Amino acid sequence: MQLLIPHSLFLLLSLLSFAPSSEGLRTKIRSVPRRRSLQNRAEPISGSTTDSVGNIPLNDEQNTQYVGNLTISGAPFQVIIDTGSADLWVAGQIQDSTDLGVSTAIQYAVGKATGDVNTATVDFAGYTVEKQAYLLVKDTSTFTADLSSEGISGLVGLGPSSGSVILGALGNSTGNTVLDNIFLQNTSTPNFISFLLQRDGDPTQSFSGELTVGEIIAPFDNITSQPKLPVQVLDSSSRSAQHWTTTLDEDGIIGPDGQPIKISSIVPDNGGKLFAVIDSGFTLPQVPRKVSDAIYGRVQGANYSVENSVWTIPCGQELNISFKLGGVTFPVHPLDTSSSDFAMTNSKGETVCVGTFQPITSAFSLQGEFDLILGMGFLRNAYTLLDFGDFIAGSNGSTSDPYIQMISTTNPAEAHSDFVTARLKGIDTTSSSQYTLLPAGKGQTSPVPDGERVQHAEQKVIRYMPLIIIVSGGILALAVGCCLWRWLKRRRLSRRNAAALRSTAEGFRRGPYRPLDEPAPPPMHMQAMGSHSKNQEYGDPFASRERL
Ligand SMILES: *[C@@H]1O[C@H](CO)[C@@H](O)[C@H](O)[C@H]1NC(C)=O
Ligand SMILES: *[C@@H]1O[C@H](CO)[C@@H](O)[C@H](O)[C@H]1NC(C)=O
Ligand SMILES: *[C@@H]1O[C@H](CO)[C@@H](O)[C@H](O)[C@H]1NC(C)=O
Ligand SMILES: *[C@@H]1O[C@H](CO)[C@@H](O)[C@H](O)[C@H]1NC(C)=O
Ligand SMILES: *[C@@H]1O[C@H](CO)[C@@H](O)[C@H](O)[C@H]1NC(C)=O
Ligand SMILES: *[C@@H]1O[C@H](CO)[C@@H](O)[C@H](O)[C@H]1NC(C)=O
Ligand SMILES: *[C@@H]1O[C@H](CO)[C@@H](O)[C@H](O)[C@H]1NC(C)=O
Repeated sequence: MQLLIPHSLFLLLSLLSFAPSSEGLRTKIRSVPRRRSLQNRAEPISGSTTDSVGNIPLNDEQNTQYVGNLTISGAPFQVIIDTGSADLWVAGQIQDSTDLGVSTAIQYAVGKATGDVNTATVDFAGYTVEKQAYLLVKDTSTFTADLSSEGISGLVGLGPSSGSVILGALGNSTGNTVLDNIFLQNTSTPNFISFLLQRDGDPTQSFSGELTVGEIIAPFDNITSQPKLPVQVLDSSSRSAQHWTTTLDEDGIIGPDGQPIKISSIVPDNGGKLFAVIDSGFTLPQVPRKVSDAIYGRVQGANYSVENSVWTIPCGQELNISFKLGGVTFPVHPLDTSSSDFAMTNSKGETVCVGTFQPITSAFSLQGEFDLILGMGFLRNAYTLLDFGDFIAGSNGSTSDPYIQMISTTNPAEAHSDFVTARLKGIDTTSSSQYTLLPAGKGQTSPVPDGERVQHAEQKVIRYMPLIIIVSGGILALAVGCCLWRWLKRRRLSRRNAAALRSTAEGFRRGPYRPLDEPAPPPMHMQAMGSHSKNQEYGDPFASRERL
């Protein structure tokens, strides 16, 4: 149970504002990535084999976390691989580390890492970075799971550096992320990472997990000819919330009945598409509540656990869902749509499986930057490439835009037979009546917590804030304008009256006979007091009303 949302390590909107330093401006020279062959699952390649530059094996912690080795001043650390944040932190003792005397805290959707910013020599994926900044953490107790008991001693953020807390705290290039340093210290290193996540409990999977920096894993070479999914680049005011975000296709979520799940985006000006964050730090993909309900609510025996904010379903229920990105369909393995890794039981003591596509709660996007988070449950189904383009701190905008490429690793027929082997003891009962979905509209829905209602309302206010400001600004300007007009009008009137009096007085002073070339002074006071003609000429609707 404690493992339910084990480490939702999505960096919350931090209020840091960071201006990239002008140091180290360099034009990125792109080179052809190297290929490496796939690791055989049976004999994982250790970090010491010949071709170790550019990649590390990833250990799969029961499908809840993917960790890789990284050394700091020669000491090894098992760090979580997190594309949803951008900082490196570790907990432990390190020799030869320089404390910069800057304390900071990195807040995740669940948990917080607090400590001092240090610099030391870091080895990651075969690259060495001298004086790499990282947070030396004393206390990780705020994380849901006991990280150290799982052998995890830190986290490396692989997200865009504009979200880096350390970089924001230092405000200079000493705070660069590990990846930015790797890409900047040798501009021939292609500035992308790629990763393949293994699935524990899959009876036929042929590969083990792996992360690469600047190289492609060979059997999936054709990932480079997949559609380039554009990354949504946030404007400077919200750059600290920048993530690996892209859009799903229209009707891009296909439910278990084979029909698209109809849902609208909370992102303003989205053109009707849903915004999805690629985040390897989330065990359970986070989807709009309506989507989670559409996937699991029609399953016979489904039950929503309010306590854990997840659906539970019978473990034998096969659910085929898929996502569409860039015109390509990514089927989700049914062993990923529901998980047997959490050892949950229902009130009758029967083992039940967890619906992994969880209603988005803890990482609810208040500012409406995204709709869903494609965490590990989805990412096990694709080999994913994240190209930094001009995200790299110090690049001067002359490189290409960042993009994402993905290639499916899930074959639906094989996935079906895996499911039958793993969950149904090899006997295909997936089409028996107990597994028939309830008719559309007859399914259950999960209760919306009060807090979420408030958040949604707040989110709407924030979303419509520019409009509210424009409209109220307009009303204010109109009101000020009217007051000003009335004031000017009054002033004009009194001036005219005064002028009229003056000219009359002057007339009198000059004598009763005016010179022939001088036009007769108009009876200004009469006009002003009487007719509306003058006012209408100025188009003042209030002046006439005032007098009526
Ligand atoms: C910035 O990019 C331009 C090309 O767009 C290049 O001419 C210029 O040298 C670059 N400046 C630096 C400091 O790298
Ligand atoms: C990580 O490093 C430790 C210590 O050097 C080693 O025992 C372990 O096998 C490594 N793990 C991987 C996945 O390379
Ligand atoms: C960046 O800032 C930190 C902390 O203020 C300081 O220790 C470091 O020397 C600075 N680095 C550079 C390159 O200015
Ligand atoms: C820079 O990267 C290129 C391509 O990966 C490599 O051939 C070269 O040896 C690297 N240079 C240094 C100094 O590491
Ligand atoms: C990619 O290559 C593999 C084998 O090399 C092939 O089976 C697969 O169909 C290709 N996929 C695409 C989308 O081209
Ligand atoms: C369904 O969940 C509720 C609480 O969330 C629980 O009280 C009930 O016993 C569960 N039903 C089953 C069949 O597990
Ligand atoms: C899931 O998809 C597989 C492969 O297309 C198919 O054989 C199986 O019957 C489907 N199962 C359900 C419950 O739709």
